[in-house]
Amino acid sequence: MSDIVDKIHADHRKFSSLLSRLEEQIDVFARGERPDFDLIRDIVDFLRVWPARCHHPREEALLRLLERKAPEALREAGDLRREHERLAAQLANVADGLASILMEVEIARDTFVAMARNFIARQKDHLAVEETVMLPLARERLPKADLERLAAEVVLPEECGSLKRYERLLETADGGG
Ligand SMILES: [Fe+2]
Ligand SMILES: [Fe+2]
Repeated sequence: MSDIVDKIHADHRKFSSLLSRLEEQIDVFARGERPDFDLIRDIVDFLRVWPARCHHPREEALLRLLERKAPEALREAGDLRREHERLAAQLANVADGLASILMEVEIARDTFVAMARNFIARQKDHLAVEETVMLPLARERLPKADLERLAAEVVLPEECGSLKRYERLLETADGGG
């Protein structure tokens, strides 16, 4: 039975894969070529919706338990909730920049590229902290039974199983490892 650590880790693999695809497109744009704007928009839209609704509830449940069972060690991960808020704000700016580009409102290419790259770098750092601090800590300090119970307890909105518009992205992300 997969526990909550397995589930969070699986989510992270999808995120990483999507971030890499986004990064490739931003690199294309940075070179002065025309990127796949539909793909950029789909990934940005996905990242604005999916983590908050379908990923953070799992992390929230795990964080609450770690805060009770291993508060000292958890401090090393920093304020992950605050980081979720900051990343969401940063991504909202990227989305605004993208909307301007798509509406052909003047926005400097360099400005958009820098915003997107900052977001990607920060999101990668966040994933790395969760993968190297939060998840190993959970494995080390929490009984497997607790981790399995959490996985069963966190009920995600129905849409998390079938976000139609994003299925193509996820399939490609899974396929790309
Ligand atoms: Fe997170
Ligand atoms: Fe995460």
